[in-house]
Amino acid sequence: MIETMEKILKKAQAEQYAVAAYNVNNLEWARFILEASEDSKTPVILEVSESAVTYMGGFNVAAQMIRALVKDLKITVPVAIHLDHGKSVESCKQAIDAGFTSVMFDGSQLPLEENISKTKEVVNYAHQHGVTVEAEIGKVGGENSEIVHADPNECVRIVQESGIDFLAPALGSVHGLYHGEPHIDFDTTKKIRDLTGLPLVLHGGTGIPDEMLLEGIKSGICKVNINTELQIAWSMALRKYLNDNQEVYDPRPIMKSGEMAMKEEIVYKNKLLGSYGKAN
Ligand code: 13P
Repeated sequence: MIETMEKILKKAQAEQYAVAAYNVNNLEWARFILEASEDSKTPVILEVSESAVTYMGGFNVAAQMIRALVKDLKITVPVAIHLDHGKSVESCKQAIDAGFTSVMFDGSQLPLEENISKTKEVVNYAHQHGVTVEAEIGKVGGENSEIVHADPNECVRIVQESGIDFLAPALGSVHGLYHGEPHIDFDTTKKIRDLTGLPLVLHGGTGIPDEMLLEGIKSGICKVNINTELQIAWSMALRKYLNDNQEVYDPRPIMKSGEMAMKEEIVYKNKLLGSYGKAN
């Protein structure tokens, strides 16, 4: 069933576990994530980046496809549909109008004052529509982005001045693969949790060792974003399938060949994060 992210993450916060937010790239991915989560009785967040929205055809396609799958597959576990890294107020509004239940406004590249004021604009619109908002302070690292650690005082300001529901404080994580061991500042994470009281979000969930993820949960992380890990699991299985079955051209078995690898990864992560069996 479609559920607000507030309900999903408030329960996670109260019971000290984290819910995975898996990035959706197409219909197959949405189906595999929903079915694996139903099997493991896990609340789940299906998040879609702006580039994936464009790839799929638009905000309505993404939101309504997930909603239709939840209905036709008779998914009973709580499912939130979240816009990952919304880059503009306008795109957040479009996602809300299309049926997303939560949006992230990513103003991390903007000066603080502008990040706060634009986030506030998104919050005003979102809350009128029963939709929740995540914001980012500091900068998550990645191929084209250097890591900037979140300042706790700036975190308090954005929470108090914009009225967001969840906060992603960047504290050393990166999108994509880590070069060497990740270094995430969980002491500051705890400080930000205590100062803000909000469920916190960890971006760049791929490649973070299990014990580090568990430390993150103890420090206030309630949502862990995972994308690259599923991409690797799916594409490796698909590549093997195509190599082993040179004569196949029906797209359905080809697209489906990554299903088991993805579902195994999802169930493993749900167990690790403690959300396995937490659907009710
Ligand atoms: P990874 O691709 O590193 O798992 O990060 C996903 C993410 O943070 C999406 O916002």
